[in-house]
Amino acid sequence: MPRAIGPVLVEGPVEVVLPDGTVVVSERPVVALCLCRRSRRYPFCDTSHRRRSRPSVERPADGEQA
Ligand code: FES
Repeated sequence: MPRAIGPVLVEGPVEVVLPDGTVVVSERPVVALCLCRRSRRYPFCDTSHRRRSRPSVERPADGEQA
């Protein structure tokens, strides 16, 4: 199954019904819906899907070559 790495863009305005029955409305002409579930504004994308931890870069000790 492919992994979701970003939002899905839909033409607005939209009304989203969450599993608990809450209805969330956006009047924007284009709405980014979060697929990664990291958004603090879920169900809308807040670009949290972009955040990744940087790979650790080990620096060579003095006198060593990289
Ligand atoms: S898709 Fe962007 S925060 Fe989830």
